[in-house]
Amino acid sequence: MRVTAFNFVLLLFGALYRLPGVFAVNLTPDNWDEVTSGKSVFVKFFASWCGHCKKMKPAWDELMKAHESNPYYVIGDVECSANDTMQAFCKKYGVKGYPTLFYGDPSGTLEKYAGKRDLDSLQLFVQTNLKPLCSAANQDVCTTEQKELLQAYKQMSDNELEQKIKQVSEELTASEQDYTATKKRMEEEYLAFQTERTTSLSLMKSVLKANNGSGKEEL
Ligand SMILES: *[C@@H]1O[C@H](CO)[C@@H](O)[C@H](O)[C@H]1NC(C)=O
Ligand SMILES: *[C@@H]1O[C@H](CO)[C@@H](O)[C@H](O)[C@H]1NC(C)=O
Repeated sequence: MRVTAFNFVLLLFGALYRLPGVFAVNLTPDNWDEVTSGKSVFVKFFASWCGHCKKMKPAWDELMKAHESNPYYVIGDVECSANDTMQAFCKKYGVKGYPTLFYGDPSGTLEKYAGKRDLDSLQLFVQTNLKPLCSAANQDVCTTEQKELLQAYKQMSDNELEQKIKQVSEELTASEQDYTATKKRMEEEYLAFQTERTTSLSLMKSVLKANNGSGKEEL
C-alpha cells in the first residue's frame, strides 16, 4: 500500500484510538439494567472536571479493559457531569463527591470502596471482593430459596415473565414514592412538633424568670 499523507493521518488516528485509556464501559440510566443484570458491579462515579478523577483515570481504564468480558462482574464508569439526567442518576446512588467508587450487588445496596486507587490495589480488590451473583446462568452460588424462585420463573412463558417484571417494577416504584411521601410527611410533623414545643418551653422559662421567685405558690 502506498502511504499517502491522507493514509498516514488515518493510520495515526487508528493508532491513537487503540491507545490504552480509550476503552470504557459507560453506564447510564438507559443501559444500567441491561449491562449489570445478574452481575456484581464496581463503578466509578466521576465528574469530567475533577482532579482526583483525572489522576485515577489511567488505572481505572486499565482495570475496565482487563475485566471487559468477565461473565460475573462489570467494571464501569458513570459520568455524573455529562448532563442533568446523569447528575440525578448519581444522586440517586448517593454520590456526594468525586470520584465515588461503589461495588456490590446492583439489586441491593452498593458499598463504598475506600481503598487505594492505584492499579495493583484495585486489581487485588476485584479479585478478592467481587463475587459472582446468583442468576439463571450461574446457579452454583444461589441459595435454596433463590433456586426455588428460579425454578418457578422457568415454568413461566416469556410473555408471563415480561408482565410479571413490569408489575414488580411498578410495585417497586410505587413503594419508593410511598416511602418518599411518608418520609416527607413525618419530617413536616416532626418539625411542627419541635417548633411548637420549643416555643412553649422558651415562653414558660421566660415567665418563670419574670416571676423572679415571687410568682404564685402552690394552690
Ligand atoms: C446524558 O449523558 C449520557 C451519558 O453521556 C447520554 O447517554 C444521554 O443520552 C444524555 N442525555 C441527555 C438528555 O442529553
Ligand atoms: C428579683 O430578685 C432579686 C434578688 O432576689 C431582687 O434583687 C430583685 O429586685 C427582684 N426583681 C423583681 C422585679 O422582683
